Amino acid sequence: MFDFTHKTVCIIGGAGYLGTAMSKGFLTQGADLVVADLNPQRLQELQATLKEQFPQKDVMTVTVDAGVPAQIDSLYKRIAERYGKLDVLVNATYANAGKSFDELTEEDFDRTNKVNISGSFGMVKRALPIMPEGSAIVQFASMYGIVSPNPSDYPNGLQPNPIEYGVGKAAIIQMTRYLAMVCGKRNIRVNAVAPGAFPYTTLHAGNDEFIKRLSAKSMLNRIGKAPEIVGAVVFLASDEASFVTGEVLSVDGGVTAW
Ligand SMILES: NC(=O)c1ccc[n+]([C@@H]2O[C@H](COP(=O)([O-])OP(=O)(O)OC[C@H]3O[C@@H](n4cnc5c(N)ncnc54)[C@H](O)[C@@H]3O)[C@@H](O)[C@H]2O)c1
Repeated sequence: MFDFTHKTVCIIGGAGYLGTAMSKGFLTQGADLVVADLNPQRLQELQATLKEQFPQKDVMTVTVDAGVPAQIDSLYKRIAERYGKLDVLVNATYANAGKSFDELTEEDFDRTNKVNISGSFGMVKRALPIMPEGSAIVQFASMYGIVSPNPSDYPNGLQPNPIEYGVGKAAIIQMTRYLAMVCGKRNIRVNAVAPGAFPYTTLHAGNDEFIKRLSAKSMLNRIGKAPEIVGAVVFLASDEASFVTGEVLSVDGGVTAW
C-alpha cells in the first residue's frame, strides 16, 4: 500500500516546515520527487538534507513564484521533459501580508490572493495537461479557512492569524470541491488537508504561553508536529484513496470538532 514507485510527485511550497516532512514521506514511499519553492536557500538546505537521507534519489528542486503563471508553466515544462508526466501535485504555499488588520490595504489583499487564490487555481489548471488519468492533487487549506482565530489565544501582543490568510484558505476549500468536479471527468482526484496548529517559528513556537493556549484548543491538548501531516497527505495522494475526492481532511487534533 501507498507505493509511489515510478510516480512523479511535485510539492510546491515544499521547502518549508511541513514540506520538508512531506518530501521525506514521499521519498520513503518510493516517489520521484520535485520540490518547488520561492525560497532558493531553503531549497538548497532541503536538497542537502534529502541527499544525505536518500542518497539513491535525485530530487529535482526548482525556484518558483507560484503567483506568477509563467514560472508555473516553466516548472511543469521541466517536469514533463524529465519525467514525461506528473502524478501528484501538492500545493503547500501560502502568503500573508505581515500586517495588522488596521494596516492592511486592498492592495495587500490582492497581492496575497495572487498566491493563495489565483495562484492555487493556476497551479492546478496549468498542471492538468501533464497529469494522466489516476493522478491526484492535494491542496493545503487550514483550520483558519473553517473558523476564525480567537484573539484571546494570542498573548503578549501576538497578532491573530490574518484575514487574507484565512480568506485564501476558505477559498481553497471551495476550490477543492469545484476542481474535484471538473477533474473527476478525467479520473483526477482533488482533495485538501486542513491543518490545525503546527507552529514552528521562534515567534510562535518559542512563546510558551501561546503554545499552552493553542494546545488547550485541541481535544488532544497539544500542538501538531510536522511528521503528523505526512500520513494524511500521502493517503490522499495515493491509489488507496482512489474513491476519495472533493474532501477536506482536518488534521487539527480536534480543534474544529468541538
Ligand atoms: N504550520 C501550520 O501551523 C499550518 C497550519 C495550517 C495550514 N498550514 C499550511 O501548510 C502549508 C505549509 O506551511 P508550513 O507550515 O510548512 O509553512 P512554511 O512557511 O514553512 O512553508 C511554506 C513554503 O511556501 C513557500 N512559498 C511561499 N510563497 C510561495 C510562492 N509564491 N511560490 C512558491 N513557494 C512559496 C515558502 O518559501 C515556504 O518554504 C501552507 O499552505 C500553510 O498555509 C500550515
